[in-house]
Amino acid sequence: MDLGIRGRKAIVNGGSAGMGRGAVLALAREGVELFVSARGEDRLLRTCEEISRETGARIHPIVADHSSDAGRETILAACPEPDILVGTCSPPPTTGDYRTISMDDWRVTLDISLLSPVQFMQATIDGMVARRWGRIVNIGTGAAKFPAQIRILSGAPRAALVNYTVAVSKLVARHNVIINNILPGMHHTASIHDRYMAQAARNGTTYEQEVQKFVDEWRIPANRFGDPDDVGAFVAMFCSEYANFTTGQSLVMDGGLTNSTF
Ligand SMILES: NC(=O)c1ccc[n+]([C@@H]2O[C@H](COP(=O)([O-])OP(=O)(O)OC[C@H]3O[C@@H](n4cnc5c(N)ncnc54)[C@H](OP(=O)(O)O)[C@@H]3O)[C@@H](O)[C@H]2O)c1
Repeated sequence: MDLGIRGRKAIVNGGSAGMGRGAVLALAREGVELFVSARGEDRLLRTCEEISRETGARIHPIVADHSSDAGRETILAACPEPDILVGTCSPPPTTGDYRTISMDDWRVTLDISLLSPVQFMQATIDGMVARRWGRIVNIGTGAAKFPAQIRILSGAPRAALVNYTVAVSKLVARHNVIINNILPGMHHTASIHDRYMAQAARNGTTYEQEVQKFVDEWRIPANRFGDPDDVGAFVAMFCSEYANFTTGQSLVMDGGLTNSTF
């Protein structure tokens, strides 16, 4: 299936690993030119090189922190007029007792997972409107919709981001600027790998056993974690020509964990 976006330009913020990488891969397969940011240079260069070799796409690595003013300037200088904007970050730390979350933790997390995507949208939407074509996808978290104490720092800022994106999506849909969110549950990404490997080392178990423990405890109907490249494929779909009538949506991808009737 040709998604009709060959030659479009995309910024993917947080694209060297996990679901961001999955998005880069899926967009590269569609012939999109990519501007990919991450803070760590080695992994970013490796990812861009691998995906470019596999797909033949033009991929520009940008070493930058997308939550800082300097980082945003660098990214937007490399690609001032993107047709597509995809935003993600690493999962914020899990939270214990809600009373112990510090103001510093709140500020850092709000900068990375709420204010940064908001500022990128503000910087790029007018251009998309003027060119009458734009696609924006934020990769958030299922916890935005289904709150839990361990996910307060992850869920609350993204609930606000979803609220913002839906409000803005209504203003720009008539200009063919389409904004959607993906709200993932548990997936085998880089950060999850590190977290569960550390847990396994502490408990004298394996990564697979730690994952299964979580799956059993939370009763994930699919009985496993998801694949970040599958999330990437849905990001590409939301960035496609075919998304032109589908906006302000938040797709939960969590193996059936939080399904209700609609
Ligand atoms: N994985 C899960 O099971 C899961 C579950 C629920 C929700 N989520 C959500 O899904 C999203 C993606 O998670 P993931 O597990 O795919 O993350 P990941 O494997 O840690 O990958 C995150 C990517 O973003 C980059 N990044 C992080 N902060 C950045 C910053 N400030 N500026 C530029 N790049 C940055 C990382 O590279 P550098 O570190 O080098 O910058 C990396 O490329 C997050 O919003 C997370 O909360 C994940």
